Amino acid sequence: MSRWDVFCDQVICITGAASGFGKLMTENLHAAGARLVISDINSEPLQAVAAALADETRVVAMTCDVANEADVQAIVQAAKERFGRLDIMVNNAGLGSEPKLLTEVTEEEMDLNYNVNTKGVFFGIKHAVRQMLAQDAPGGTVLNVASMAGIGAAPMLGAYAAAKHGVVGLTKTAAYEFGRQGVRVNAICPFFSPTPLVTQEGGLADRMDTLKKSSPMNRMGEPEEMVEVMLMLMSPTNSFMNGQAVAVDGGMSAI
Ligand SMILES: NC(=O)c1ccc[n+]([C@@H]2O[C@H](COP(=O)([O-])OP(=O)(O)OC[C@H]3O[C@@H](n4cnc5c(N)ncnc54)[C@H](O)[C@@H]3O)[C@@H](O)[C@H]2O)c1
Repeated sequence: MSRWDVFCDQVICITGAASGFGKLMTENLHAAGARLVISDINSEPLQAVAAALADETRVVAMTCDVANEADVQAIVQAAKERFGRLDIMVNNAGLGSEPKLLTEVTEEEMDLNYNVNTKGVFFGIKHAVRQMLAQDAPGGTVLNVASMAGIGAAPMLGAYAAAKHGVVGLTKTAAYEFGRQGVRVNAICPFFSPTPLVTQEGGLADRMDTLKKSSPMNRMGEPEEMVEVMLMLMSPTNSFMNGQAVAVDGGMSAI
């Protein structure tokens, strides 16, 4: 038994499940008895996550580039074909950007950020909600993983900030468009957390101390602290929260 057993039998698609928040969420939801379509652009680590769960009855693992609409459509279709429905879509996949001033950001970096971090979430909302509305008992929940960079300035991370603000815009719009039909759409906006996105070389590793000190709690958030809130936002018992971009930031956005 898990304290998240409210997710037992729920059919959940998670993108970016091979690492960081997505992997941890997958492990928690599997322990709670959920039926999962887990996906990632990186096949090998994704298959390792699936192999560790060793549960072909409740876990389907699929390679998916969220910037490719057909790939995203395919994971939603897999939920329907394999488990008969989709209850929850977690648009978690994302990538960071090399820290630099906006004057140095290239068009390619802007495009990549937009294609993966914004358009990937758009495809996830579009196909998940279509499926949720077509079901016998219409309804469901979408959780988008935005960032603190989606609700405020993100110095040196301009391309990422633009893309994540887009995620918050999509979240609020989708919440309004589909709320009456029983679909809730929310976003989480985490502060920095030591997942590979932040700790890998070429990422923000060199700036970790500065990042920690800029926070009212003088530390980053642990991935477990982020996933705790993600599960709360997704939970079927959290039935009246809709269109919110929830900061999990140790108080950073309160300044
Ligand atoms: N870690 C942080 O500090 C932090 C803070 C705010 C928001 N976020 C967001 O959290 C989400 C998860 O990131 P994380 O911190 O767990 O990082 P992570 O790098 O550990 O995991 C991200 C996963 O997304 C996958 N991915 C990247 N591009 C993809 C694509 N095109 N299609 C499918 N999968 C793709 C990666 O392969 C990886 O497995 C991201 O959206 C990120 O922007 C992270």
